[in-house]
Amino acid sequence: MIRQEGSLRPSYKKSVIRRIFGNEMDQEIRDIIIKHGSNILCSDTFKGTFDQTHHYKTTVGDHILGVTVEAVKVCLRHNQTDDQTLGNVVTSCLCHDLGIVGRDEKYNNNFETLIWHPKHSAEVYKELTGEEDERVLDAIHSHMFPLKLPMPKHREGWILTWADKISASMDILQIPPVTIEEREELLELAEQEQR
Ligand SMILES: [Fe+2]
Ligand SMILES: [Fe+2]
Repeated sequence: MIRQEGSLRPSYKKSVIRRIFGNEMDQEIRDIIIKHGSNILCSDTFKGTFDQTHHYKTTVGDHILGVTVEAVKVCLRHNQTDDQTLGNVVTSCLCHDLGIVGRDEKYNNNFETLIWHPKHSAEVYKELTGEEDERVLDAIHSHMFPLKLPMPKHREGWILTWADKISASMDILQIPPVTIEEREELLELAEQEQR
């Protein structure tokens, strides 16, 4: 069942929690995501992520955006703001769960999903971008650590696996990582960037 749009609107209490745990998307974060991820955001593959439920209450696409916002915040907080790191982090985040789209047809159960979706996401990343960056591939392959090996080898992988856990927790608590307005604005800006 796909979440109704209205349920993406946070209550006052949940808005406060969002501020504390930090998935608010300010201008700086939005600009970084657009600069490094608009090609992925505009792809048909990415648009399809909003049709599949994830973590019971959200969609794959909204979860991915929450992860990306959280990861960029970590980069800003720890001065990891060179273009290469930000580009790798945004790309890794936007692609890390693309392989899970179509899970009911691909996997027989949650265990198979856990084992295989990072590998399939890495394949989607290569196909979608035409790139095979070793650090991005490592981040995508290791994003389920510590639930699953391998452990990340590079900082991009550690940032992604951290952001994934934060965003997944917020999904399960039904605190929207990214609101409808933020999601729509981001997708619109990405379209403008690609024109
Ligand atoms: Fe995942
Ligand atoms: Fe994820």
